[in-house]
Amino acid sequence: MMLKPIATVFLAFSFLTATLPAPAFAGLIHPAAAITKDLENAVNTQIRHEMEAAYFYLALANVYEQQALFGFSHWFTVQFFEEVTHARLMMKFLSDKGNEVRLESLQPTSMKKDLTAMDGANLGLQAEEAQTSRIHALYELARTAKAYDLETVMAFFVKEQVQEEASFTDLQQKLKIIGNSPEGLLALDRDLLARPVPVVQPLPVIGP
Ligand SMILES: [Fe+2]
Ligand SMILES: [Fe+2]
Repeated sequence: MMLKPIATVFLAFSFLTATLPAPAFAGLIHPAAAITKDLENAVNTQIRHEMEAAYFYLALANVYEQQALFGFSHWFTVQFFEEVTHARLMMKFLSDKGNEVRLESLQPTSMKKDLTAMDGANLGLQAEEAQTSRIHALYELARTAKAYDLETVMAFFVKEQVQEEASFTDLQQKLKIIGNSPEGLLALDRDLLARPVPVVQPLPVIGP
C-alpha cells in the first residue's frame, strides 16, 4: 500500500530524530518539577505549625493586654505577624513549585490569665525550641530527597530559628536582671513598644 505524502514525511522525521545523537546539553536541562507529595505534605504540616505559633503568640499578647503590659502585648503581636510571614514564605514556595497549599485546622490555644512576663519568655523559648526541631527535621527530609530547592528554603529557616530563640533568651536575661522590680518591668514594657511592626509585602523567593 502506498503511504500518503504526509505520513512519509512523518516517518522520515521520526527516523532522523531517533538516529541523530542527542545534543550534549540535553541531560542538563530539567523542567521545573513539583516536589513530591510526601515533601508537600511535610511543608503543609509545617505551615500549620507556623500558624499555630502565630496563634500562640496572639494568645500571649492578649494576656499581657489584660495586665496593662502594653509593650509586652505589642511585642508578642509583632511575633504573631512574624510567624504568619514564616507560613506565607512556605506557602509561596509551594505555590511557586506548582504544589498544593493546604490550610490545615489549628489547635485552639488557651492561656492562664496570671502569666508573668517571665512565663511568657519561658513559654516562647520552649515553643521556638520545638519549632527548631521541626525545621531541622524538614531540612533533613529535603536533603535526603535531594530536593535542593526546598533544602535552600529550609536553610533560611534554620538560620531564622537561631534569631528566634535568641530573641527569647534575650528577653529572659533582661527579666532576670529586673528581678522583682516593678520599675524595671515597666521600663522594659516601654522599651518593647519600639519593636518595629512588619509591613505586609509581596513575598520574595527566599534563600539563605
Ligand atoms: Fe516561625
Ligand atoms: Fe518563631
